[in-house]
Amino acid sequence: RHSLRAHAHAHGLVYGSAVRVHDLLTLPEYARLLSEQCGIVVPSSELKWVALRPSRDRYDFTQGDALLAFAHHNHMEMRGHTLCWHNSVPDWIKTDQNRPDTRQLFIDHITTVCRHYAGRLQSWDVVNEAILPSDGRTDGLRKSFWFEQMGPGYIDLAFHTARAADPNVLLTYNDYGVEFDDKEDAERRRLILELLRGMKQRNVPLDAVGIQSHVKAGQPYGFGKGLADYMESIRQMGLQVFLTELDVNEDDLAYNDVEKRDAAIAKIYSDYLQVALASPAVKAVLTWGITDRFTWLNDGPTHHRKQPNRPQRSLPFDSDFKPKPAYFAVRDSF
Ligand code: XIL
Repeated sequence: RHSLRAHAHAHGLVYGSAVRVHDLLTLPEYARLLSEQCGIVVPSSELKWVALRPSRDRYDFTQGDALLAFAHHNHMEMRGHTLCWHNSVPDWIKTDQNRPDTRQLFIDHITTVCRHYAGRLQSWDVVNEAILPSDGRTDGLRKSFWFEQMGPGYIDLAFHTARAADPNVLLTYNDYGVEFDDKEDAERRRLILELLRGMKQRNVPLDAVGIQSHVKAGQPYGFGKGLADYMESIRQMGLQVFLTELDVNEDDLAYNDVEKRDAAIAKIYSDYLQVALASPAVKAVLTWGITDRFTWLNDGPTHHRKQPNRPQRSLPFDSDFKPKPAYFAVRDSF
């Protein structure tokens, strides 16, 4: 009754979280939290190429299947993430002399993975993070491995291939850096919309746009017309919007007081969701994790952070699975 899941549902939304499957399978208390709070889950990395394809001839679906079984057992949906990402290209692709050409490999991968889960997922992030203006192309396309090997057509190819293998799943283009009212995000929004318009004109099967929503506390830009206009343009193309990876990075908060930080983080959640959820195109909200115990923002060397040795409190529940102000902020935004 008081869960994020129930609150979202009552307002025509589905709420959920990214999950590292290993954490779920080893910690019953965490599994309980997820099943109480989430109507949808997505595996953080288990369906990316590096995890799924340990070698050319092997597909390892064990982790993804385990999460899907958990989701369906608890009457949740699951998203697929992701069929194509510049940051998950297995090493063997670059060294295996006997592999098929990249285009064939790409088609085979997407076909096999989409068929494996056909009819059982809510949506697929078909292509993730294809835009990178600083790579210098006028169309904004990132010069990723996939781009270098196949040219700009790889994006359309990915969507056509996914649709052929799973006729009903919602096919999503997912990207970051569109949330704030600054010049950099404005340029990213422009280039992503240009990509999406081109895809619609070419009749590429595209159903939804993922806005990652990795937002930040303690920096000068806010959320406003830029984000609202972006969502409205997407809606006018007949596409749904999913907030796919929401969390708040608090590295720019200079003070250490936990109460003050939690309040600032909660305010960012409210401010962001107030603008984002004003759009009727938004159908799903997923945070990238649900408890600070497992936020990806605490991965990696802490000395690279502005606040070294200070674990981030970026998610709705703290590391003991207690709700924080961020939880109430998210809940009351629905
Ligand atoms: C991250 C995972 O959370 C990490 O565990 C992993 O090491 C790297 O990838 N944008 C995305 C996600 O689309 O796939 C990323 O997930 C976070 C940024």
